[in-house]
Amino acid sequence: MIVAQAPGRINLIGEHTDYNLGFAMPIALEQRTTVRFEPDDSTTITLETDREAGKHAFDVTVQPGDVDGWSAYPAGVVWALAAAGHRVVGGTMSISSTVPIGAGLSSSAALECAVLLAMNEATGVELDLLDVARIAQRAENDFVGAPTGLMDQLASLHGEADRALLVDFEAADVTPVDFDPASHGLALLVVDSHAAHQHSTGEYAARRDSCTRAAHVLGADSLREVQGQDVLNRIEDPTDRRRARHVLTENERVLDCGIALTAGGFRRVGDLMNQSHASMRDDFEITTPHIDLIADSAVRHGALGARMTGGGFGGCVIALVKAAEKDAIAEKIASDIAARDYPAPSIFTARAGSGAAVQR
Ligand code: GLA
Repeated sequence: MIVAQAPGRINLIGEHTDYNLGFAMPIALEQRTTVRFEPDDSTTITLETDREAGKHAFDVTVQPGDVDGWSAYPAGVVWALAAAGHRVVGGTMSISSTVPIGAGLSSSAALECAVLLAMNEATGVELDLLDVARIAQRAENDFVGAPTGLMDQLASLHGEADRALLVDFEAADVTPVDFDPASHGLALLVVDSHAAHQHSTGEYAARRDSCTRAAHVLGADSLREVQGQDVLNRIEDPTDRRRARHVLTENERVLDCGIALTAGGFRRVGDLMNQSHASMRDDFEITTPHIDLIADSAVRHGALGARMTGGGFGGCVIALVKAAEKDAIAEKIASDIAARDYPAPSIFTARAGSGAAVQR
């Protein structure tokens, strides 16, 4: 029996920068997805999970369009591995997870990475982490059909306890940075809004298209090549201009956040989180009134900073708070949410956890 685990992630800062070849700073969560794989000599992969009764099955020659629902993620990984020329084998995969699903905490990347590591362990295929991330991303882009970047998979694979990951997507380079708020008397609260992200795939794709158009107007292949905000005036479309401004300013905030963390300057980190949220709200327009309420509430009740994390239109808000105040702030946020008749949130404290691995 092969056992592989991969964590979900939170992004501390740097949203919608990955597919623009910019910078982001995710952490891997302690919450993770576990795949127990019993390979056999068939060509069928059978899936079972602790979340639902029954089994799903697909052949290892599966193609895009053959499978939908959550089993498209494992099927997509098998397809993407085979498409990259790697051997894949049949067997039974039993899946369990402590990563909340559909909350913007990358339960999909955790599932992809755990399946991929389990399959490679069974076949003896050895890949470096960047190749693993790219194959998992291909499963999501070309099999599941979500045009996402590389952040979630890199975070899940490279995670380290008490470290954030400064990712440069142009260099495809990951630099761990100390991130241990507890040793500074702080805590990172995660407020899961339980807001369904309807239309999020279409909106995500629309943001991506805006960024591509903006780069082309500026004669660049990606917004990473664009230096300084002055040139943004050359983008006539006001929406595309604001989208590009978010990406440029967000890249700067990520780098500033790396400098602040290295110096233990959590006040500055909190300020940057607030600025990032405002930019996502006003320029990139991926927050919702519900999400804005949560971020505002956290700051009003004493958080050093708060921002939505992930692709947008729902999901989670993260808030950096004094550890001694975390329960009181969580209660006040919950009561502000209840006063507006939004669903009751789940609130927990996150720590940076280790990355995906096969148990030996
Ligand atoms: C989702 C995508 C990532 C990234 C974020 C936004 O999580 O999967 O690739 O683009 O949204 O930062």
